[in-house]
Amino acid sequence: MDLVNPRAMLEQARQGGYAVGAFNIHNLETLQAVVAAAVAAGAPVILQATPGTVKYAGADYLVAMARVAARQAAVPVVLHLDHAIDIDLIGTCLEAGFTSVMFDGSTLPLEENITRTRQVVAMAREKGAAVEAELGRLGGREDELAVDAEAVYYTDPDEAATFAAATGIDSLAVAIGTAHGVYRGEPRLDFERLQEIAARVNLPLVLHGASGLPDTAVARCIALGISKINIATDLKLVLAARLRETLAANPEETDPRRYFTPAREAVKETALAKMRLCGAAGRVQT
Ligand code: 13P
Repeated sequence: MDLVNPRAMLEQARQGGYAVGAFNIHNLETLQAVVAAAVAAGAPVILQATPGTVKYAGADYLVAMARVAARQAAVPVVLHLDHAIDIDLIGTCLEAGFTSVMFDGSTLPLEENITRTRQVVAMAREKGAAVEAELGRLGGREDELAVDAEAVYYTDPDEAATFAAATGIDSLAVAIGTAHGVYRGEPRLDFERLQEIAARVNLPLVLHGASGLPDTAVARCIALGISKINIATDLKLVLAARLRETLAANPEETDPRRYFTPAREAVKETALAKMRLCGAAGRVQT
């Protein structure tokens, strides 16, 4: 199968009461690990790359690698651009073959966020791609996107309904207390707010910053209407840890295939566990 638009995948998850795992990948090995996990789980999967990763690896390389993986996999695979602010970069990624993009206008006033999001929706439609947008602002850090605690604000349910109707987006990222990166203490999530948003917005909702959340919190978010769970940090931690371990145990090793093989396996195992946690395992009949 070629890379797919996530619209039907996320709608099925919403109807089925589970979530699709969306994993940030950075290179060949992490991309292979996530797709291998999806195949092992029989789960639909979203590969996502931040603007920083597009800069690092190149949009064409990412699309080429994701296409090969998707064609070999017996599960549907999406390639999504995560947290893009630059509309030119969104255009480049759509042109290259990304099947989904996120426009993050969460720093803009509502009217301007609506105007620019509409522009991105029109661009994406021309290419048959889907659009995720964000309302409210998450704390923490992801690549160059760093948000201080004082700048955090939660998604307003009424505003979310207005925004969804005015923009024609396919999914909405919500701010309910999660943050990008490693949590210092256990985050307090505003489940009531999530419930209100889900009651007013007739779209799949997206939870960013899902690494490090207790399993029970993830499950509750899914039960309340989250259909896409974003995970970056947990994969980065396991990748770096396994690389360090392997190199510490074999200080003379110089063959990348030898130290990347166990690291790729560790990422696959972590992604697989997340897919199971999201209830996505076994949703694709292979
Ligand atoms: P974490 O790094 O906290 O998993 O967040 C990932 C994310 O939300 C990607 O957009």
